[in-house]
Amino acid sequence: MTNALLHPFSPPAMAEGDFIDIVRGEGSLVYDADGKDYVDGMANLWLCQVGHGRTEIIDAVTAQMHQMEAYNTFAPFTNGPAARVAEMIVERSPHPDGRTFLGCSGSEAVDTALKIARLVQQRRGTEGRQIIIKRTNGYHGTNFGGTSAQGIAPNREGWGDLVPHFLEVPHDDLEAMATIFAEQGDRVAAVLTEPLQGAGGVFPPADGYLEGLRRLCDDNGALLIFDEVICGFGRTGEWFGAQTFGVTPDLITFAKGVTSGYLPLSGVIVSRAVCAELEEDPGFLLRTGYTYSGHQASCAAGIANLRIMTDEGLDQRANHVGERLQEGLRALEADGHIESWRGMGAVYAAELGRDSIPVRNAILEAGVIVRPIGTCLAICPPLVITDDEIGRVIDTMADALR
Ligand SMILES: Cc1ncc(COP(=O)(O)O)c(C=O)c1O
Repeated sequence: MTNALLHPFSPPAMAEGDFIDIVRGEGSLVYDADGKDYVDGMANLWLCQVGHGRTEIIDAVTAQMHQMEAYNTFAPFTNGPAARVAEMIVERSPHPDGRTFLGCSGSEAVDTALKIARLVQQRRGTEGRQIIIKRTNGYHGTNFGGTSAQGIAPNREGWGDLVPHFLEVPHDDLEAMATIFAEQGDRVAAVLTEPLQGAGGVFPPADGYLEGLRRLCDDNGALLIFDEVICGFGRTGEWFGAQTFGVTPDLITFAKGVTSGYLPLSGVIVSRAVCAELEEDPGFLLRTGYTYSGHQASCAAGIANLRIMTDEGLDQRANHVGERLQEGLRALEADGHIESWRGMGAVYAAELGRDSIPVRNAILEAGVIVRPIGTCLAICPPLVITDDEIGRVIDTMADALR
């Protein structure tokens, strides 16, 4: 095996042979090249809602590919799967009368949402409104927009100058947000936040925090963007975090769970009010988008995935998964194995209070995948995970921590 593959978020000096080669998956289990099985406690990377190996999605993609693999959706072209998946997404969202822009990655979705927010402000004639306020611990992808929006400082470093006009506030501090608005509210284009912060360490919002953001944005003419790349599609117990937390943003980014990862698909849900501003001038051209915006095969995967989620009630199954996981985490805490835990729905972090990588390695060795983030271990399993499999996750963690 050569080292031709340069891995993302990995040490370039790490040899290809030292990576774990995942070759097969079924339900909440994945298998490596040696045939060893692992409980996929991270649903790939916060995304595989329906579990691995679902033939309904594979067959839908294959059928679509035989008919038409991909054709762009730049005017004058469109395609049925793109229009249909957009419809299914908005129907499930807090903006059933809104529209959906499509891309491939969460990073593309975030960059597009940031561009739409600034665009809308420019078209309102408020050209000075360019500031995007973002929070510490936020993870918004790795394109230049998302990198500039990162609240995880090391992810912003080493790339030279980033996009200007991003201001950061401590993640749980509504007062700090209010202060920026008080001082320069007429220059703020948008606030960007995950409803529940995921990759930065799993931080649910404080009571009233998201409502406070909505109020500040409304009072100051700024847009509110929810980055639901992790929260979207059932992770928090409703289709979107916006619904779980009862706060409606103007723009919602999504990716990951929309296809459960069977093919790349992402996008931005745009509220009716913002759509109306974009639709107003028939001569206006939205000069952004991707070759693969509305890729037929990806959209076919999205349609099949959303059908499965709907038919199997997976949009709400996070509540059941959460009860079982919370039981386990409470036991780990009571036994002194972990300092604390946090999370909700089907996304949690066990706080160890020390470097979590050695513990993760032991857990991995014992056949369970969790994700080390600083001093905690993240757990975000497929929404189809069984109670027995959750038991195996918790028991394996207990053994490794003991
Ligand atoms: C909240 C959030 N936004 C954006 C992204 C970036 O998505 P992608 O890696 O698909 O570009 C992620 C990825 O984990 C994410 O969690």
